[in-house]
Amino acid sequence: MKTEFMKGMTRTKMCSEVSINDLDSEVTLMGWVDTRRDMGGIIFIDLRDRSGKIQVVINSSNVSSDIMEKAEALRNEYVIGIVGKVIKRAEETINPNIPTGEIEVMVSELRIFSKSEVLPFQIEEQTNVNEYTRLKYRYLDLRRPDMKNNLIVRHRIAKIARDYFDNNGFIEIETPILNKSTPEGARDYLVPSRVIQGTFFALPQSPQLFKQLLMVSGYDRYMQIAKCFRDEDLRADRQPEFTQIDLEMSFVNEEDVMTLNEGFLKRVFKEVLNVDIQTPFKRLTYKEAMDRFGSDKPDMRFGIELVDLTDIVKNCEFKVFSEAIKNGGSVRAINAKGLAEKFSRRDIDSLGEFTKIYGAKGMAWIQMQGGEIKSAITKFLKEEEVNNILKAMNAQDGDLILFAADRNKVVYDVLGNLRLEIARRMNMLDKNEYNFLWVTEFPLLEYNDDEKRYQAMHHPFTMPMDEDLELLDTNPGAVRAKAYDVVLNGTELGGGSMRIYNSQIQEKMFEVIGIDNETAQERFGFLLNAFKYGVPPHGGMAYGLDRLCMLMLGADSIRDVIAFPKVQNSSCPLTDAPSLVDEKQLKELNIKTLVKKEESVNGENKE
Ligand code: AMO
Ligand code: AMP
Repeated sequence: MKTEFMKGMTRTKMCSEVSINDLDSEVTLMGWVDTRRDMGGIIFIDLRDRSGKIQVVINSSNVSSDIMEKAEALRNEYVIGIVGKVIKRAEETINPNIPTGEIEVMVSELRIFSKSEVLPFQIEEQTNVNEYTRLKYRYLDLRRPDMKNNLIVRHRIAKIARDYFDNNGFIEIETPILNKSTPEGARDYLVPSRVIQGTFFALPQSPQLFKQLLMVSGYDRYMQIAKCFRDEDLRADRQPEFTQIDLEMSFVNEEDVMTLNEGFLKRVFKEVLNVDIQTPFKRLTYKEAMDRFGSDKPDMRFGIELVDLTDIVKNCEFKVFSEAIKNGGSVRAINAKGLAEKFSRRDIDSLGEFTKIYGAKGMAWIQMQGGEIKSAITKFLKEEEVNNILKAMNAQDGDLILFAADRNKVVYDVLGNLRLEIARRMNMLDKNEYNFLWVTEFPLLEYNDDEKRYQAMHHPFTMPMDEDLELLDTNPGAVRAKAYDVVLNGTELGGGSMRIYNSQIQEKMFEVIGIDNETAQERFGFLLNAFKYGVPPHGGMAYGLDRLCMLMLGADSIRDVIAFPKVQNSSCPLTDAPSLVDEKQLKELNIKTLVKKEESVNGENKE
């Protein structure tokens, strides 16, 4: 069969644009053969393009034998062009499930532009093909209607972001990808310079410092849909290369940034999902979020809040509890209300196993069932202590109470994740509920146990809260920052802060995190110098665009909203990147690798 060309054939519509209004008119359509049914003398094709599908009919009584021969040769995923007349389908063949289900196109001309080999998997809505294969043949996977929908929705979200911020006086400015490495934060991806040998660019972890420079330059309101790169371990909601909706504003405070961004989220949810979200969003301080939910990004679609039992059990005989408290930790518990009978002993054991992931040494529990209290720990406690615990937990028959005793960090992590796990197992998480929350008053600093020093929790340019400035000298760990995160259903969607624009505060900040003048100059000199020439008060934030898409689409993985994502070991199954490079390329860079060729072949994720 010879190749056919488009010459003289001009597409008049997309497949799903053809409607009952086109009855009796001639259309020219192009696309892929989605399915083909040969009824002997009549061949039905579902023709598919980006817009959807339409049924086309090739009837031997209407067309030449030459066209019939071509029609018989068609197979799935051949790319064809047809000319034909729109007709009404016979009553009994109407398909109410597709928009073009009432009509079909009676073909008068057919051209085959290209053929397809047998596919490694079918192009269908729901697929159970393993993800590695899907990603290896991503161009086929992207033909599936659900992936197509994901990418179209992603486009719309990005478009609405650009429009919304444009309407509010923001301008989009691109910032560089080849940057100076500024440690702090995640690990950088490095790019060797050929011209200045031995030196490296770093790919941006975010446009943070550049957007601050743009404020110094007087651009007032900046936004960018920006690619960011972080060499971190992947998770379901993390990619090494991801996209931010990034923004920065001058002469504003936290309230301004939060209000404007609530407006953005309201608009995007309305326009994309037709969902009305309530503003202003709920707010929790970091401390309250931790104390009540054990997490700085709590999922508030359900309760099961943490209760601090430290005071009640601090002098008890049960060493697991009293020792944890003596060592500066705490004892807290959650009440899975009314769920005692849903969790057998085995289920409770498996919850115990689950908590070990988060560092728990054990998981004590009390089960209240049939008027009895079942527990392995009540025997170590006085009756009064047990009663006080039950009272504090608001415990009633049918409840299941789960404990964690450890350093606070572990207790929060264990119970924060345990409440989520219970909600998952009990199907308490409604994907169609959108529960937004601002978390505010983050600690400015966190203590790095390994390096025995404080480090910036967000980044070193985050403004401390006015009322805590004095604590920078006396109790740095207690200083709160003008920082905020927006959380949706337990995922951190975005975050930002007011920035330091005062050189004394900046110097103090560097001093507290152990960066001396020289190091500060070496790393951030360009920003500090810029700040000498008139810097406006400013602040901003950034959303993870991928995460926003994922949550709006109800996707399980961030990879389902990215056209060409990376897998677990940060490699790309489609292109096989990262890969070895020619000796010549390395030579030009004056770089030698110590890893032997055989060792570096990435086979981990191969089938
Ligand atoms: P932050 O580091 O919190 O802030 O990042 C902002 C948002 O980006 C998303 N995000 C990610 N998404 C996918 N994969 C990743 N590896 C990943 N890492 C982060 C999250 C997160 O909330 N410059 C500051 C913002 C500012 O202060 O204005 C910043 O980058 O949704
Ligand atoms: P043990 O006496 O160590 O067997 O512990 C008695 C009960 O306490 C068991 O149910 C353990 O799972 C639980 N337990 C042990 N360590 C902890 C801990 N750090 N926090 C909460 N419960 C614990």
